[in-house]
Amino acid sequence: MRYLTDLSPLSSRDSSFPSRVTPGKKKPLYTPLSPHTAYGNAMIGIFRKTMTTLATAATTAPASAVVPRVSIPTNGVDYRNKIVLAPMVRSGELPSRLLALKYGADLVWGPETIDRAMIGAERRVNPRNGTIEFTRMPSNGGRPNKSLKESVIYRIDPAREKGRLVYQIGTASPELAVQAARVVAADVSGIDVNSGCPKPFSTSGGMGAALLRTPDLLVSILEALVKEVGTPFQIGISVKIRILSKPEETEALVSRLVKTGITGLTVHCRTTPMRPRERAIRDQLPMVARICHDAGVACVMNGDVTSRDQGLALMAEYGVDGAMIATSAETNASCFRTNEDGGVAPWRDVVYEYMRFCMESENRLGNTKYLLNMLIPGKDKEFKDAKLSKTYLDICRALKFEDLLPAAMRVDELLGLDEKWEAAPDTESQAEPKSKAVQNAKVSEAARAAGGGAVRTKTPSPAVHAGGPIRRSSAPQPTKVVQVDAEQPAVEAAITAAQTQAPSQVTA
Ligand SMILES: Cc1cc2nc3c(=O)[nH]c(=O)nc-3n(C[C@H](O)[C@H](O)[C@H](O)COP(=O)(O)O)c2cc1C
Repeated sequence: MRYLTDLSPLSSRDSSFPSRVTPGKKKPLYTPLSPHTAYGNAMIGIFRKTMTTLATAATTAPASAVVPRVSIPTNGVDYRNKIVLAPMVRSGELPSRLLALKYGADLVWGPETIDRAMIGAERRVNPRNGTIEFTRMPSNGGRPNKSLKESVIYRIDPAREKGRLVYQIGTASPELAVQAARVVAADVSGIDVNSGCPKPFSTSGGMGAALLRTPDLLVSILEALVKEVGTPFQIGISVKIRILSKPEETEALVSRLVKTGITGLTVHCRTTPMRPRERAIRDQLPMVARICHDAGVACVMNGDVTSRDQGLALMAEYGVDGAMIATSAETNASCFRTNEDGGVAPWRDVVYEYMRFCMESENRLGNTKYLLNMLIPGKDKEFKDAKLSKTYLDICRALKFEDLLPAAMRVDELLGLDEKWEAAPDTESQAEPKSKAVQNAKVSEAARAAGGGAVRTKTPSPAVHAGGPIRRSSAPQPTKVVQVDAEQPAVEAAITAAQTQAPSQVTA
């Protein structure tokens, strides 16, 4: 078994990542004609001509003959013909999203983030890996003696998520929704409103699925976002709902939502009281799709979609525009790969890639372990070992990812986990003092915590956008790793260096 070894630093181009224009080798919904044959070329010519004619007709024909389509804003993304990663609290952090993209997801939704959490967050660029981090100080729960350490509440990889990331917001207020969305609007392609979460922490505040019962409020949130964020930032606004138990109720709700200016609507085919393990109900889907299409809004289905191939088949069967995958991707993100391209990969391959993304992203260990628990089958010995691990080094050792050990040590040092190493690392660098760059990074973190204000030796992160239109062209483009000094450790550099040696051949 060979591991994929084409990872490069977060901030550099990764040719193994499907580009937005040519999304990998994934099969599109409708198999295109071969561009390599004369017949194919001729047919493509006819197709283009027909489309041009249709477009012209659309501008001149009477309204009744035109199939409407809400236009996609310049910095937005069309949800049509896409198989996408669902929003998932905890399971949808940056490493999981990169993993899904790696295996062919067309778009990724970030985890629901409550409006108040993002309002007032500081935006900065991590100089070691180029990721954008939104941070804030914890409220500290009124405990004056507890040391304050800022926490990263949202991370974005501007290079690899560009044009593919939808930010999901939890809100019950048009004003707060707008304030929060403005903080991230320049860095994402769309803002989605969570109107389906059935958990009490969400519904008790009037958010999530509670909004299904307060359609006036939901409509006002979407309209405010379209006007105050979608239009000035030129990104799409969308909503994710659940079906209501009576089809006519769903119909009435969707009919209102599609008139708010949204570009997409995702329908989770379960009612609010339904448990995740209950089978999705799809008989309302064609009705929802029809209402969306009549208004020119893309309709994405969700619920028991388990793979790209199945998603494409369901899209054709139910006449929807896209399909969203949650729990299957949580268990094995290679479900986004078609059977033709290899299908679902062995869990060890997926976990290896996941660990690399976690370390590159400097992901919080607790979160890394959370998804590891999903990715590693419970009966395997590695499951228990990884679960008990307290550091990245321990995890990589337990999984026998020898070539990742240097990177694991670096990230442990950066995150202050090295004190928990079970035994002295058995690598050449064990006798060395912490690298200068790791020390620099730690000093920066300490200075930041002590005095606020990021310490940077080079390019400063752009300030958090207070609001107002920001053109994407002038939006921050932190796609380059900013070298703090020549010895800048950059976890990814360690990974890349390790990758130049033969990766360990661990069999599944
Ligand atoms: C761990 C987890 C976290 C979730 N978090 C969110 C969330 O933040 N926002 C949301 O709209 N739905 C959330 N969901 C629901 C999923 O997006 C999705 O609607 C649901 O799991 C059904 O899809 P599936 O049948 O493919 O699992 C979450 C689901 C899981 C399993």
